[in-house]
Amino acid sequence: MASGKRIAVVTGGMGGIGTAICQRLASQGCTVIATVHPSEQEQSTKWLAERETEGGDISVVAGDVSSASDSARMMGEVIERFGAVDILVNCAGITRDTTMKRMQAGQWDEVIATNLSSVFYVTQPIWEGMLERGFGRVINISSVNGQRGQFGQVNYAAAKAGMHGVTMTLAQEGASKGVTVNTVSPGYVKTAMTDAIRDDIRESIIAGIPMRRMGLPEEIAAAVAFLAADEQAYLTGANLPVNGGLFIH
Ligand code: CAA
Repeated sequence: MASGKRIAVVTGGMGGIGTAICQRLASQGCTVIATVHPSEQEQSTKWLAERETEGGDISVVAGDVSSASDSARMMGEVIERFGAVDILVNCAGITRDTTMKRMQAGQWDEVIATNLSSVFYVTQPIWEGMLERGFGRVINISSVNGQRGQFGQVNYAAAKAGMHGVTMTLAQEGASKGVTVNTVSPGYVKTAMTDAIRDDIRESIIAGIPMRRMGLPEEIAAAVAFLAADEQAYLTGANLPVNGGLFIH
């Protein structure tokens, strides 16, 4: 896929979808840097040991993507240790689901900061370098719920819809410089995040998916690899739905 060894950063790299993306990009010859939250550093040692048995070139850097200053520090560390970033996958995300009636401002702020502001915080430190070098792939992992809304997710749906606004704008700013920016919008994928949905609600969601099953993290990783490829130079500003037919438009 890549000419030479591309440097790829995956935020939220240790999560369900993040792990599959790291594995896929590493299997295609990239040097992969997974970013993890500072509170996850201990867990990341075990995660990294598992990745080492798989043989890919994967490293971990810690940083809080919901903080502008820590994101800048973290990306500075990435560049210093590994070199210029060619591929950035903004995958870090959280949920704080509850109805509008009950949602606290803190739950709103936390989700907006982690899922949306993070895209600005993490991308900006490497953006100019991509433009100057004339190559870059930025892939924002949004959600079907950013495209159609979801009961109990006013914060999450707003953040995920906002991510594609970032994509459409950066696609225009990067287009003449060889930098493509795209969104992947997964549907319900089998991860710890969807395991946390109450069983009866999860079952009714699955019943409403035309394919009658959740997606696999590897199916999201395949879409990311498609967009990250060197040869995929003319595809930008798109929102690729990978949702088993849950939302077709
Ligand atoms: N549409 C319309 N009405 C709904 C509804 C829906 N989708 N879901 C629930 N309701 C109704 C219920 O029937 C119930 O009505 P009554 O009060 O008349 O009985 C009322 O709303 C309250 O419903 P709950 O019992 O579910 O309310 P709760 O307060 O216990 O739970 C909630 C609220 C936590 C938001 C829960 O509904 C929930 O977990 N929903 C799923 C949210 C979801 O899909 N999250 C995705 C997480 S994974 C992810 O985000 C990854 C991704 O990108 C896809």
